[in-house]
Amino acid sequence: MAEKIVLPASVEGQAIENAVQRCILAECGAAYGIRERIYVCSRCGGPLEIEIGSVPAAKRGAELRKLWAARAASHDPRDISGVWRYRELLPFEDGAAVVTLLEGHTPLYDAPRSAEYCGLAHLRLKHQGCNPTGSFKDTGMTAAITQAVLLGARTAVCASTGNTAASLAAYAARSGLQAAILLPYGQVSAAKLAQSLDYGAAVCEIEGNFDDCMCLIQELGDDPAIYVANSINPFRIEGQKTVAFELMEQCEWRVPDHVVVPGGNMGNSTALGKGFQELLALGLIDRLPKLQVVQAEGAAPLARLFAALTPGDLRGGAHLPSRMATVENPSTLATAIKIGAPVSWQKSLRAVVGSGGSILSVTEQEIADAKAIIGRDGIGCEPASATTVAGMKKLVAAGRVRREESVVGVLTGHVLKDPDYVSRYHHGTLAIGEKNGAASRPIASTFANVPERVAASKAAILENLARRR
Ligand code: F0G
Repeated sequence: MAEKIVLPASVEGQAIENAVQRCILAECGAAYGIRERIYVCSRCGGPLEIEIGSVPAAKRGAELRKLWAARAASHDPRDISGVWRYRELLPFEDGAAVVTLLEGHTPLYDAPRSAEYCGLAHLRLKHQGCNPTGSFKDTGMTAAITQAVLLGARTAVCASTGNTAASLAAYAARSGLQAAILLPYGQVSAAKLAQSLDYGAAVCEIEGNFDDCMCLIQELGDDPAIYVANSINPFRIEGQKTVAFELMEQCEWRVPDHVVVPGGNMGNSTALGKGFQELLALGLIDRLPKLQVVQAEGAAPLARLFAALTPGDLRGGAHLPSRMATVENPSTLATAIKIGAPVSWQKSLRAVVGSGGSILSVTEQEIADAKAIIGRDGIGCEPASATTVAGMKKLVAAGRVRREESVVGVLTGHVLKDPDYVSRYHHGTLAIGEKNGAASRPIASTFANVPERVAASKAAILENLARRR
């Protein structure tokens, strides 16, 4: 018989009893109920985060770990989901009807070629592209749509560069909500757009960029029938933070020195930072991994801000800047992170500084080459995800990460999310700046793998293979 695990009173049932939504700004700190439909602080407009209730004493940490591990043998959908498996740390009642596609449980791969490319002895890549809709967004969307249903919303909306949209469309379809999606017209990969159409979402293609779409979303959020599912919504972050829990289980609770993630709207880095912080507070880990966030050079407002921080800012972390200069016309072929005004920048910056990590940027060429190398490991990912390997290579070259340190990169999207980019790279036709009359800058296909036409005979095929061996 399975061992009965008794949880401390404060976590029995759920953390819901004393959970609140709290403004993160030190000078405000206002708290709101967990079922209040707000996205930013009503008092000061600051960002909100969920504060889970009182946490169990550190010595009970091992029991929580055991409980999570025991769920691996269960057939309850909440136990199969790699998000709801950690429900003691999620702000929902025990009996809440969860909207799940059995997200999470993504693989952690050894990536020897990518490691060598970076100058590391070892590198592991956690592939969030193996989620149901092919990106990390699903781990947050399951929580956001569960909350939307609980609040009685009719329509869930998001602005998106494509992946949030596909995820929202799928989870809304599962729950019976209408999905309304604002996409920057002509700037989303065809594969991602196709997913949203197939899942039945109302897709609005907006004349403008992602940041314009995001502004519209903040206006739409006032409508009582509408629920905003962007990562400005703290429930998205709650779902996404469980990736830190799953990763630590896969690492057998040995904390990596660095966790490296792409940065766009900055929800993912915020969520990972929060997840690790909670594990630390619970005594489940004894230190934080350094969070390394990587932006594309043409869409890197936070990397720019980070580079200007003083050693005092980095040490204390208490008085971080309250403003960030946005990038007016962000530009990158990694369209998922083509964002000039990330909404969660303050939370992300706090998490990075608190962990002793950094925020940097990489070029289009560095992204493209790193992506091809990840492919050669038999893993593959979409362009934005490859900022991780490109960024790590840069950090090692700069002596900021040592060869022997342990590193985990989070790949955020599947290789099939943007097949046009992959095809152009290997055919030698990838270039940036082709639109709006701007001069086109070609990207070199350093690791091109070009298909060859071969005569329809065994001899011709064998001859061709011998030549390419
Ligand atoms: N990687 C991929 C594949 C993404 O789709 C995104 C964001 C990011 C990284 C950046 O994560 O925004 O949490 O910092 N995509 C959003 C979208 C913006 O609409 O799909 P972030």
